[in-house]
Amino acid sequence: MVLLEKELVTNLKNINSQADINETRLDISDEELSRIDKEYCTYGDKIHAEPVPKVFRDCNGVFMYDTENTPFLDLEMWFASCNLGYKNKRIRDAVVNQIDTLPQISSHFQYDYKVLLSEKIAKANIKRFGTKGRVHFNVGGSQVIEDALKLVRNYTHKSRMFSFYGGFHGRTLGASCLTAGYRYRKPFGHFSEEAHFVPYPYCFRCPYGKKCDSCNYYCVQQLRRDFEDNCAGLYDHSSKEASLGAFFVEPVQGSGGYIVPPKGYFKELKKVLDDFGVLFVDDEIQMGFYRTGKLWAIEHFDVKPDVITFGKSLTNGLNPLGGMWAKEELISPEVWPNGRTHSTFCNNPIGMRAGYEVMSTFEDGNFESDVAAKGKYFLDGLKELEKRHKRIGHVDGLGLALRIECVTEDGYTPDPKLLHDILAEGLKGDLTYNGKKCGLILNKGSHYNNSITLVPAVTITYAEIDMALSLLDQLFTRLS
Ligand SMILES: Cc1ncc(COP(=O)(O)O)c(C=O)c1O
Repeated sequence: MVLLEKELVTNLKNINSQADINETRLDISDEELSRIDKEYCTYGDKIHAEPVPKVFRDCNGVFMYDTENTPFLDLEMWFASCNLGYKNKRIRDAVVNQIDTLPQISSHFQYDYKVLLSEKIAKANIKRFGTKGRVHFNVGGSQVIEDALKLVRNYTHKSRMFSFYGGFHGRTLGASCLTAGYRYRKPFGHFSEEAHFVPYPYCFRCPYGKKCDSCNYYCVQQLRRDFEDNCAGLYDHSSKEASLGAFFVEPVQGSGGYIVPPKGYFKELKKVLDDFGVLFVDDEIQMGFYRTGKLWAIEHFDVKPDVITFGKSLTNGLNPLGGMWAKEELISPEVWPNGRTHSTFCNNPIGMRAGYEVMSTFEDGNFESDVAAKGKYFLDGLKELEKRHKRIGHVDGLGLALRIECVTEDGYTPDPKLLHDILAEGLKGDLTYNGKKCGLILNKGSHYNNSITLVPAVTITYAEIDMALSLLDQLFTRLS
């Protein structure tokens, strides 16, 4: 407890000192920004989900600062893109060094950090899965999903894939075929290669009405039954060929609401996929880089993926770099030769250097035990809140990927309005902690639009977790 108090004092000092160090801000008011925005900016991205988008001017560690310098504890971290905290000095210094050394180089020339980062990721996977593979980069998560789709199609010659109810894999046309929500495709016509969607193991609201401890993976058995049925459209028993190429899997469902599957689920699923010749693509774009306490979330489930996609926190938010790793038989130069896919910025040096430093930081630290311990501490706190607030229906987590379901008085019916109000209230910036004004940044996700997804930096301190719990408590007290 003494340690926590000390940490907290340092933490609040950081909050105070922010006002002094922030001298590089552009001198333009929120009102002026809003006027220009209304006239010239698209409303097609996600900034205008609320009538008045919140403006921030600075960030540090786990805090964002608005125009009045009010600190907002950030439990979203740019949708899990800054797992090592804002303005992380080590990553920042490496990027500055790269800017001073080799900031630009065309993506068809060779240089050091691109090769060395590939080696780091490939070796990390040999260590974890015993599988030799190779790495291919691109700019951003959706583009990496496109590349993974091409890789699977190139190898299997199948153009349709499996994906999960609630799955989110991006918004490019190809990735939209794997993203379950119809709202993502609705304005854009017919998607002939839309995935075959299968229920996610969302046990709190099991689509089959089963109980997790007694269902014997009923949902996986349903899928096996469809493969065994010659007339269910998944498999031709005479040629022994599946009609779909791969299953794109989120090991913990991200935009679906941070749903953690039961421990043995993916092993059961993989057995079915192996029996019928379907590849397993593990999408770690949101859950990778120690979000769950492992480099890859799939490591919790004792399964060896055929392909891994990653992005977001690869560069700690300093560059939109992503990549895919695939086992050798899918990506060897004979199968995946020069120019199979490419993009101007895919091998850019700033991203590679940031990625190399992120991987090195994880190699040098004790993140596995540290994230597990902090995740437990946070989840224990959430369970206490669940006991006290009727409108919290379910809390769960794996490492520092945590969830809260907002429900009505009956304790189960999803309450999207409560979720909306809690997120909006946090952004007002009028909560208090230790006598100081502050705000809370939260993200949402889910099948029923009622879940808070908690995505703190993996560098968050115990004192900051205490602060998070206190602010959540204030929000549920105000709005329940
Ligand atoms: C699991 C997963 N895959 C793919 C994507 C798409 O990544 P991006 O937004 O960088 O295109 C996301 C983004 O949230 C994601 O969470």
